[in-house]
Amino acid sequence: MEEEVKKVLQNIIIKTKQQIDGIRESGKRNIEVLDTVADKIQAGMTTEEVNQIVYGKTRELGGMPAPLNFNGFPKSVCTSVNQQVCHGIPSREVVLRNGDIVNVDVSTIYQGYFSDASRMFCIGKVQPEAEHLVTVTQECMEAGIKQVFPGNCFGTMGNAVYRHARKNGYTVVRQIGGHGVGLEFHEDPFVSFVSKAGTGAVFVPGMVFTIEPMVNQGRNQIYIDGGNHWTVYTLDGKLSAQWEVTVAVTETGYEILAY
Ligand code: CO
Repeated sequence: MEEEVKKVLQNIIIKTKQQIDGIRESGKRNIEVLDTVADKIQAGMTTEEVNQIVYGKTRELGGMPAPLNFNGFPKSVCTSVNQQVCHGIPSREVVLRNGDIVNVDVSTIYQGYFSDASRMFCIGKVQPEAEHLVTVTQECMEAGIKQVFPGNCFGTMGNAVYRHARKNGYTVVRQIGGHGVGLEFHEDPFVSFVSKAGTGAVFVPGMVFTIEPMVNQGRNQIYIDGGNHWTVYTLDGKLSAQWEVTVAVTETGYEILAY
């Protein structure tokens, strides 16, 4: 058994208490940045303005936006509108309109520790179908969080997310998922939300990772923007939503470090 556990832990960093304290401090700032966006985001604002809010607030709090220059990403935050699944690049050209749904994905480096979370924002009055997708996607994330406790495993957690989405008639993106986080922006493992119960690494106290399902209104197929090589869209042009938290596995369950 011990051999087996070691094997599934391969490449997954088990954080010390001190490291988790560091990630928590980073996460507090990440939460404050997202709260600031929540206060200010509105119709008529460009996604570049959201980018400036994120950069300004993160720097004010003594942190650095992790996306900025990460693998060449040009901005401080991802802003993904409507049929954009993730990795939307803030732009002066993209104006938020009444009825849009937008994901704002904020990641913070603070004193060497990384945190990562995203929220959906409904701009003005959105269609009931769009609002339902946003609500169910948040519920999917929460269904995953409830499965985080020592002895459970990644596959069972991802399966709980998946089942809630399917029950509501939605699909879940397969190719992109969550990840370990804390000492780096993206660590092992890849966290799938299209997984079989009882598979994947077993949860052990000290693991820190993200739960961030991308849930589609239509089919699960996606494509990457051929121009900027970043932004991911639904192939069928239907809506996509995403919520993200950073969680730590504790002795008794989980702690949310950023949301
Ligand atoms: Co993430």
